[in-house]
Amino acid sequence: MKIAIAKETLPAECRVAATADSVKKLIALGAAVQVETGAGLKASVTDEMYKAAGATIVPGAGVYADADIVLRVRAPSLEDVAQMKKGALLIGMLAPYQEKELVAACAGQGVTAFSMELVPRITRAQSMDVLSSQANLAGYRAVLEAANAFGRGFPMMMTAAGTVPPAKVFVMGAGVAGLQAIATARRLGGVVSATDVRPVAKEQVESLGASFVMVESEETKAAETAGGYAKEMSEEYKQKQAQLIADTIKKQDIVITTALIPGRKAPVLVTEEMVRSMKPGAVIVDLAVEQGGNVALSKEGEVVDVAGVKIVGYPNLPSRIPVDASALYARNLVSFLTPLVDKETKALNINWEDEIVAASVLTRDGEIVNPNFK
Ligand code: NAI
Repeated sequence: MKIAIAKETLPAECRVAATADSVKKLIALGAAVQVETGAGLKASVTDEMYKAAGATIVPGAGVYADADIVLRVRAPSLEDVAQMKKGALLIGMLAPYQEKELVAACAGQGVTAFSMELVPRITRAQSMDVLSSQANLAGYRAVLEAANAFGRGFPMMMTAAGTVPPAKVFVMGAGVAGLQAIATARRLGGVVSATDVRPVAKEQVESLGASFVMVESEETKAAETAGGYAKEMSEEYKQKQAQLIADTIKKQDIVITTALIPGRKAPVLVTEEMVRSMKPGAVIVDLAVEQGGNVALSKEGEVVDVAGVKIVGYPNLPSRIPVDASALYARNLVSFLTPLVDKETKALNINWEDEIVAASVLTRDGEIVNPNFK
């Protein structure tokens, strides 16, 4: 069983699918691991570190040719897929909703593709949950980006030269990223409040020492799906929420938006008018920018200045903390692979009926097998 770790090809992707530690674990599963030259450099893992862990280093994209399993962070190019063996596994965050051509190419090549984002959030799969491992770091990094763009400090500072007031931070969406953003902003000394449409978020927000701001109604009692996600809210609710946000936002120094609805465009929660109501020097970080954005004026990859209010729209925040993001992602992959390998024979032995396998497999035996992508 040969496992290949490919170098990421998407621009500004600094993460890698394996660390020296995860290579050792893959070898313990019975695999021979080959790593593309320089694959880990942007995440501070050198070829020497991989070698010391037991991997071989393979130049260029030759890494694909004889691999039984290719591990990646993001989608490979179609040329890379064309080099893969028939029946080989491709495992990564493949973004199948966007990458339709890739899914078709994997089927055409006879590659078995698994998309880590599709792993169900059941208890048994918690250690494989890439959405959580990466969103947590994104929430942390978002606050640091905000602090960096902010011309003031976060904590209250009482000095001989006068008192510096604490920064007021408002976090919109209290899921995995939002809760970490709250915790990080609190650690920096900010005065933090947060909002969500799921009432259960209240206790979680308050337990982190932040105050909860929310429009409560009959509708919010059913705002959470069985999977714990938010539903899209009614127009009436959105109007009430907009009023509350408008009143709250104008008093804030920092706003971090993280609100997402699975399978849909992100809800626009901060309008242009709200941005203009904020004080010059205030900073908004739109973590949902790749899903269309929670802020009307945010632009992917840019810092937009609206009358002195900065709107930070960096995509892929986990890649801005690549060492930890890679380490956690690599562990997610080891957890995913372990049950696919027979402990005795040290060969792949996949139970296609398994809930986790069935939900995350996209293509198999030359066909798109996942009902959501057929
Ligand atoms: P997400 O990334 O889909 O959304 C982020 C947050 O935005 C959510 O809290 C959502 O309620 C909120 N949101 C959506 N629309 C909004 C609006 N109009 N206004 C304000 N907020 C809005 O969510 P994430 O972070 O993936 O977590 C979703 C749920 O999954 C949570 O309940 C979390 O506790 C749960 N979860 C369960 C796991 C497990 O059981 N293994 C692992 C991780 C998360």
